[in-house]
Amino acid sequence: MVLTVTPLAYAIANSGPELVDQHCSGCHVAREGENSWSRISQQRKTPEGWEMTIARMGIMHGVEVPPADRRALVKYLADTRGLAPEESAAERALIERRLNRVEEFDHPTFQEMCARCHTGGRAMLQRRPEAEWDKLVHFHVGQFQTLEFQAMARDRDWFGLARSEIVPWLAEQLPLESEAWSNWQEVSPRQPEGTWQMWGNWPGQGRFVADVAVTPETGRDRYRLEVSGEFLDGRPLLGEGRAVVYTGYEWRASLTLNGHEFKQVLDMSEETAHGRIFDDADEAYGMQVTMQPADAVSGVAATLPTALKAGQSQRLVVMGSGLENGEITLGDGIEVEEVVERSDTRVTLQVNVADHVAPGWLPLTVGEHRQDELLVAYDEVDYLQIEPELAVARVGSPETPAVSGVFQAIGYLKSPDGGEDIALGDVPVTWSVQPWDEIAEHDGDVQYAGVMDKATGIFAPSGAGPNPDRKYDANNVGNLRVIADVEGQATAVQDDAHLIVTVQRWNNPPLR
Ligand code: HEC
Ligand code: HEC
Repeated sequence: MVLTVTPLAYAIANSGPELVDQHCSGCHVAREGENSWSRISQQRKTPEGWEMTIARMGIMHGVEVPPADRRALVKYLADTRGLAPEESAAERALIERRLNRVEEFDHPTFQEMCARCHTGGRAMLQRRPEAEWDKLVHFHVGQFQTLEFQAMARDRDWFGLARSEIVPWLAEQLPLESEAWSNWQEVSPRQPEGTWQMWGNWPGQGRFVADVAVTPETGRDRYRLEVSGEFLDGRPLLGEGRAVVYTGYEWRASLTLNGHEFKQVLDMSEETAHGRIFDDADEAYGMQVTMQPADAVSGVAATLPTALKAGQSQRLVVMGSGLENGEITLGDGIEVEEVVERSDTRVTLQVNVADHVAPGWLPLTVGEHRQDELLVAYDEVDYLQIEPELAVARVGSPETPAVSGVFQAIGYLKSPDGGEDIALGDVPVTWSVQPWDEIAEHDGDVQYAGVMDKATGIFAPSGAGPNPDRKYDANNVGNLRVIADVEGQATAVQDDAHLIVTVQRWNNPPLR
């Protein structure tokens, strides 16, 4: 069935409930009470979750919703039937599209039963009563009839087990009504207008800090962004964008930074917002970012970098608020050579680190503010950990751009006194790839699968095959070992990780 709408009705109907009445209530009948519709009012999910449901209504049930109405519907549904910050907390990585992770669940068969076609996180980001979890199982077998004949379904009574074992388990931990959600509805939504300070580490480009001016767009439920900042080496970082805040804290922006188009996802439920900026087509290419309002509770929040190497003169940026006045000290062996810039929210310094500096935490003071475990000095890296440990990159074609392998090498200092080891952040290394095993060696995977940039740790996959130069005209896939060697120190320190270069993914919904 396709619902048609007269131009007049379209021009008038624009509030959330009116849009649901107009586009959805033909099939989802109004229930008892105001603003309540069958199925729709029995579920809560993220903006991406609502977007995907409405997309399915279009693909499978022929529901046509004009783009502007669809945006307004997602906003209304996510605002009134969303997740509280505590409810989305465990699955931020999925929302931020950090895909190189291995999921774990506290249920013996959930992985095989559900989290084999898509992430299990897709379900973890929804809340429903038991009857609705049960309908979800019905919808799966009704719409994907081959499901029951696939591996990990034909060996068992999939439908029966899904209903008797999975549904009650989901209903118990992911209920429609929760204290977290009712409390969250009492909290007023985040008003993001004003100036923020944003910092992060752009793969291949370096650490940066920028001011982000956020202004409301008149007459619309969204904001404009102006980004102005610089990398540690002084290169400018400029950009602009647009953002929407869903459910009072789910910040979603499209932004252009130095000409590169990105998406941004932040959790704004706390004073300081955390999240990720990533390339929508090449999701591995992205960076974790922090955004702090200029009027945040005063103090030192972070430094760039987080570790200073012995025997070097280097740039150090201290971020926070209330930093304009008072003496700046960094402990024994660190000399402030120059205060390059200083404002209430940021201090840029040129510091000289002595050869003999004692490795470990540095007491950092700016005026009355002090932080003892934020900045660290080191001479040699004790050990390395590549992140991610396992990555999946994908060959590219004109319709489906390549997905890169993006690696970082996090250096560590062993604690001298048996306490916790100290992470130094990503440290300079030389990157290379080798065949993962004999088969990869025999097939020449290193030669065909793509190129590792030895300075940045970014692996650029080859174009899609078939490749007539390879055995059986194989695609340019590969099974590789990624190696990082610490630069410029006497003791050799190395780590390795696994990179699988595989074929394109044709179906790329926002929640995998
Ligand atoms: C042409 C009829 C039709 C219209 C119009 C329609 N739906 Fe549906 N909807 C269905 C059917 C059939 C199902 C059950 C099968 C399924 O889940 O795909 C369903 C299921 C749902 C569910 C439950 C999905 C789940 O995962 O359990 C939600 C939520 C939903 N629709 C939302 C909407 C919204 C929002 C709109 C308006 C934008 C809408 N629908 C418009 C037919 C429709
Ligand atoms: C055969 C592959 C397959 C299996 C097995 C599977 N799913 Fe899905 N699931 C899908 C597909 C495909 C969709 C997306 C349909 C769409 O949105 O077009 C989906 C959608 C969903 C959604 C989003 C629905 C919405 O509109 O909100 C949830 C939640 C979900 N699945 C949970 C589960 C659970 C729980 C299980 C185990 C009981 C499961 N899935 C098993 C393929 C599968």
